[in-house]
Amino acid sequence: MNARGDDGGGGDRFAFTTENLARAEALVRRYPEGRQASAVLPLLDLAQRQNGGWLPPAALDYVADFLAMPRIRVREVATFYTMFNLKPVGRHHVQVCTTTPCWLRGSDEVVGVCRRVLGIGLGETTRDGRFTLSEVECLGACVNAPMMQINDDFYEDLDAAATERVLNALRAGEAPKPGPQTTRQFSAPASGPTTLKTIATKHQE
Ligand code: FES
Repeated sequence: MNARGDDGGGGDRFAFTTENLARAEALVRRYPEGRQASAVLPLLDLAQRQNGGWLPPAALDYVADFLAMPRIRVREVATFYTMFNLKPVGRHHVQVCTTTPCWLRGSDEVVGVCRRVLGIGLGETTRDGRFTLSEVECLGACVNAPMMQINDDFYEDLDAAATERVLNALRAGEAPKPGPQTTRQFSAPASGPTTLKTIATKHQE
């Protein structure tokens, strides 16, 4: 039984379900003959989703054998990317980016709120198995820094209050709206438009 409360196949054996086997074969067919190893990332992602959010050694070896890759190559891939979890994670995997742009915009504060609200440190899971808190490198949303990823959703333009609001909503079983947590439009300047102001004014007339 893993932290998500399901038997995710975290033991000695792993195999794709019939449905995922068909998906995996379709993914491999996207690549030229002899290049099937290129499908390693989507196949690891597929295996992780099937297994409740993490990849046990049996799943890594299964994917390696599936793609006729040396097992160590798949381990290298799985240990490089933070998107792959090599131990069980909570139902809500909170990944806070602390790379330079997010750090300059307040990721220390975001991490601090997560630690306080969830009562756990980085790399830890709450006792009830609901939340895991991780520190990750740039997730490609720097224009809306600071940000955190929770499962498949990005929460951006965070401050202490917004971070706490998102976490408390998840704890209450709600589905907080992902994306920027401020009123600015997409990644427009936080202080309002700096260019094309005349055009913007004319449009409002
Ligand atoms: S630095 Fe945080 S998303 Fe890029």
